[in-house]
Amino acid sequence: MQVIHHISELRAAIRLAKAEQGRIRVGLVPTMGFLHRGHASLLESARRQCDLVVLSIFVNPLQFGPNEDFERYPRNEEQDLALAKAAGADIVFLPSVTEMYTRPTKTTVSVAGVTEPLCGASRPGHFDGVATVVTKLFNIVQPDAAFFGLKDAQQVAAITQMVDDLNIPVDIVPCPIVREEDGLAMSSRNVYLQPEQRRQALVLFSGLRLAERLIREHHGEMEAAVVKEALVKHISEAPLAEIDYVELLTYPSLEPVNRIAAEAEIIIAVAVRFGATRLIDNAIIQIP
Ligand code: PAJ
Repeated sequence: MQVIHHISELRAAIRLAKAEQGRIRVGLVPTMGFLHRGHASLLESARRQCDLVVLSIFVNPLQFGPNEDFERYPRNEEQDLALAKAAGADIVFLPSVTEMYTRPTKTTVSVAGVTEPLCGASRPGHFDGVATVVTKLFNIVQPDAAFFGLKDAQQVAAITQMVDDLNIPVDIVPCPIVREEDGLAMSSRNVYLQPEQRRQALVLFSGLRLAERLIREHHGEMEAAVVKEALVKHISEAPLAEIDYVELLTYPSLEPVNRIAAEAEIIIAVAVRFGATRLIDNAIIQIP
């Protein structure tokens, strides 16, 4: 496994692999590090589908708001490299902020529509930062496929929209959410949780299961507001939970749903704060 810090070296390494191995499929797994089994699952999918697997680790300042956790975002390079190796990465790209943004960027990639509800509403500018850095990574690596987790389902929708709109020749591969044994969705930010917050954080997953059960019991025929109300009530039973949003939308178009109907694909999405830590989770369900 090669560890590379500079764009020019990364391009040279990919060029060399292509020269040596001929027509190869290059897979990219973009991350911000502090890797866990969720990230490992993306690398494993890339390993199965591609000949050369590139993992990028870059905490992208552009996607953090002024009062967010950019400065204190967890970092552990040594542990990340061990996990990357075990999961089968060929190249780890670890650029510095100045390597990625040598001059202040004057170009922003902005996806409208799907980025407006949910985290787009709570985190202004966040998805511009994501779309811009992912475009840069796509241009630097020129992968055939890129792997994204459905933990961030809105991010998957935004990147898919972006590559469609801009004819970027990259297959976007969505990967399922990986959870802790008790159901909490894995996240680099889970380390921020105090033990009691960690216990109560289970309401995200149990709430999503409750909502899903409710919808299935009604064979999908029910008002979205009823589901939302039940979910809000469930989450509010955890005294440390502060709800940012609880939403039911169409997926992947992320449009409002009033009445859930048959043959629809919907997402139940939640964002909940425990102290300063904001957790997100979702369930995408296909109504038969
Ligand atoms: P990060 O939060 O590090 O996540 C990197 C990738 O891992 C994302 O595609 C995310 O959805 C996926 N992931 C995180 N937790 C997961 C879990 N529990 N199960 C499955 N996949 C999971 O998302 C970002 O970084 C950034 O926005 C990035 C795309 C790298 C752009 O900066």
